[in-house]
Amino acid sequence: MSYKLRSASAAVAVALLGWLAVAHAVSFEVKDGNSTCIKAELSANFTITYLTATGTKTVTVPLPASAVVGSGSSCGDSGVSPQLMASFEGGHSLGLVFSKDSRLYQVATLSMKYNLSDNATFPDSSVKGIVTSSTNTSGISAQLNTTYRCLSSTSIRPQDSNVTITFSDVRMEAYMPNANLSTDESVCTADLPATTVAPTQSPTTTPAPTPPSNPESGSYNVTNINGTVCLLARMGLQLNVTYFSKAQNKTVQGIVNLQPNRTDFSGSCEATTATLILRDELTNLTFTFSLNSTSKKYHLSALSMSAFWSDMTAPITMTNSTLNYLQGSLGRSYMCRSEQILPVVNSFSLNTFRLQVQPFGVSGNQFGSAEECQMDQDNMLIPIIVGAALAGLVLIVLIAYLIGRKRSHAGYQTI
Ligand SMILES: *[C@@H]1O[C@H](CO)[C@@H](O)[C@H](O)[C@H]1NC(C)=O
Ligand SMILES: *[C@@H]1O[C@H](CO)[C@@H](O)[C@H](O)[C@H]1NC(C)=O
Ligand SMILES: *[C@@H]1O[C@H](CO)[C@@H](O)[C@H](O)[C@H]1NC(C)=O
Ligand SMILES: *[C@@H]1O[C@H](CO)[C@@H](O)[C@H](O)[C@H]1NC(C)=O
Ligand SMILES: *[C@@H]1O[C@H](CO)[C@@H](O)[C@H](O)[C@H]1NC(C)=O
Ligand SMILES: *[C@@H]1O[C@H](CO)[C@@H](O)[C@H](O)[C@H]1NC(C)=O
Ligand SMILES: *[C@@H]1O[C@H](CO)[C@@H](O)[C@H](O)[C@H]1NC(C)=O
Ligand SMILES: *[C@@H]1O[C@H](CO)[C@@H](O)[C@H](O)[C@H]1NC(C)=O
Ligand SMILES: *[C@@H]1O[C@H](CO)[C@@H](O)[C@H](O)[C@H]1NC(C)=O
Repeated sequence: MSYKLRSASAAVAVALLGWLAVAHAVSFEVKDGNSTCIKAELSANFTITYLTATGTKTVTVPLPASAVVGSGSSCGDSGVSPQLMASFEGGHSLGLVFSKDSRLYQVATLSMKYNLSDNATFPDSSVKGIVTSSTNTSGISAQLNTTYRCLSSTSIRPQDSNVTITFSDVRMEAYMPNANLSTDESVCTADLPATTVAPTQSPTTTPAPTPPSNPESGSYNVTNINGTVCLLARMGLQLNVTYFSKAQNKTVQGIVNLQPNRTDFSGSCEATTATLILRDELTNLTFTFSLNSTSKKYHLSALSMSAFWSDMTAPITMTNSTLNYLQGSLGRSYMCRSEQILPVVNSFSLNTFRLQVQPFGVSGNQFGSAEECQMDQDNMLIPIIVGAALAGLVLIVLIAYLIGRKRSHAGYQTI
């Protein structure tokens, strides 16, 4: 009797373990000889849409517990970035390529390779073979010698792809100083405690921060391999970030201007995507523009920001890759002299001033003719209306004067 009970509870435990194995994080370790350089524990789901003879189908594939550190994984060396290729049954893999600077490391490229020939995963697919999707705006970054932690579920969709990658329960570190995950953590913003930006707090305890003046305009451009400028931008940028302040021990709104003379810029241009990366010592901003080659229209489709300001307790990263801002036509530039507020995520918006950009079809290193934003056109209306009113007034005064003069002239004659 007691044996039976024990075996029954063992069966439950096994079933529970089996379930946990599906829901639980999968571990990966990339080594070079005996030294570990990347360790990752993560859960991931891939939601993939594919074509069938009768339309499209969508499947959600979890990263299975049987996934392994696949070929292509390496600790890298001079000129080669460390990377983790998590491979799994069916010929599918998830790739993370890392990069770092003096303070932060990040997933510079996140990619997903899936095998449409795998009938078990993609039944009735009318296309066969391997599909690769990748993005340079993963939004995953952390301070060096700390573990990146993001337990919340976060989704990333590479541009122009049919796959959404959803991570959860993530703990990982690259460029590891030793074989164990660091106990210090860089926590993603989604994991930060829900913040109620204190409207209830007495205003005397929160001195209103003096908003900084308008940001200076910077000129940023991206050059092709063959030396021609392929992306032009001129703009003043102001970040509006909600974060937890070390100094004030509470959540605050940080308004920070990007200083053009302290900002490095780089980027890349491809047929239908163009990227502009701006970075200063403490902040990284990545703009991704997409071109619809059918409609010949472009727009800002993704914006990614990471920051580690001295007043922050941990680095933060925020990404939104489903934006639709700064829409323009191929070969022309988009212009907005007025201040524009571009909400990116709840805790981050970007304010632009005197902006002009052209991410595609730049010729002769200069902006094409400008398409102005609605706000500028509205602002133009005001001087026109005022001008028209003034002109009308002048006309009335003039007519009144002429009539008056005629009358007095007539009066003089009668005398
Ligand atoms: C790896 O570790 C083993 C045992 O700890 C040791 O015998 C071996 O020499 C090490 N190899 C390298 C390349 O350091
Ligand atoms: C893709 O799937 C097919 C069918 O299962 C298999 O034969 C092929 O080897 C897979 N490709 C790769 C690269 O694993
Ligand atoms: C990280 O740790 C290594 C080894 O302990 C140390 O050499 C390096 O300076 C540290 N880097 C940072 C940014 O703290
Ligand atoms: C430079 O490269 C781009 C594509 O990368 C190409 O469209 C353009 O024609 C090239 N220009 C010259 C002058 O070679
Ligand atoms: C910053 O963002 C907050 C909340 O989104 C908003 O209330 C505030 O007006 C913004 N400040 C500036 C200067 O844009
Ligand atoms: C920060 O605020 C919390 C709650 O408001 C309080 O418990 C904690 O002691 C404060 N920490 C410091 C360093 O002031
Ligand atoms: C950057 O520009 C500001 C304002 O024009 C100026 O005060 C500052 O000295 C400049 N810094 C550098 C490093 O040139
Ligand atoms: C491109 O534009 C065309 C025409 O406006 C539209 O039908 C199509 O959905 C767009 N493609 C993408 C990827 O947005
Ligand atoms: C990303 O931007 C879109 C469009 O502005 C918005 O609807 C969406 O809520 C944003 N995503 C997040 C995570 O804030």
